[in-house]
Amino acid sequence: MRKNIVAGNWKMNCNLPEGKKLASEVINMVQDEVRGTTEVVLIPPFVHLTGIHNLIGSASNIQLGAQNCHQEASGAFTGEVSASMLKSVGVNYVILGHSERREYLKETDSILAEKVRHVLDNGLVPIFCCGEKLEVREAGDHEKLVEQQIKEALFGLSEEEIKKVVIAYEPVWAIGTGKTASAEQAQEMHAFIRNQISNQYKPEVAEEISILYGGSVKPDNAKEIFSQPDVDGGLIGGASLKSRDFTDIVKAFD
Ligand code: PGA
Repeated sequence: MRKNIVAGNWKMNCNLPEGKKLASEVINMVQDEVRGTTEVVLIPPFVHLTGIHNLIGSASNIQLGAQNCHQEASGAFTGEVSASMLKSVGVNYVILGHSERREYLKETDSILAEKVRHVLDNGLVPIFCCGEKLEVREAGDHEKLVEQQIKEALFGLSEEEIKKVVIAYEPVWAIGTGKTASAEQAQEMHAFIRNQISNQYKPEVAEEISILYGGSVKPDNAKEIFSQPDVDGGLIGGASLKSRDFTDIVKAFD
């Protein structure tokens, strides 16, 4: 059975005291209120990882994630962070290929293929982001584009490797805009992605992979989106900065 995961991507928000306050509130609420087995992932900026890791302590079902990592193990890459560094401070998940990094930092799927492998080689779980911009959707090319993204970044992996990857479908037009993909649009793309994996590998492999939806998920639309058969959770931006909203989104699976 694949996991249900709700991950909060804080992006470049919160100083350390603010981040610790937010994380403490979420940890307490999740422990008090969440009944199901959904895995909760807190993804703060790099500099807060150790502080938040200490707060999570042994809280079950709460994991730590990072927003990016470099594809090389070490060396002269000023400003970058490697997967082994992240692992050494308690990170389990790493977001790779978020559309903001594709757009502003020109990350390509061939670089992302290297990053995915590097993260897996270090025993961490990549949350690989894919998704189309508005003009691509309007031209009807969204499936073609997402197919190309996952093919280039993921299909070089072995069957055992790809089973460990989490995929996040995030239509760029729905990120931070308040426009959510409808539950049907999300289901359609998630089923399409699972089908691509099934064709490339085999159905049992595709069945094991958690596919998250991201893009303006809020407490009032989470339940409908998460109830779709191929939606296994969410990657939450804006609403992850409010402990009440984020916990309510996690509870949409209860
Ligand atoms: P949003 O961001 O929830 O604010 O739309 C989602 C994301 O970028 O992961």
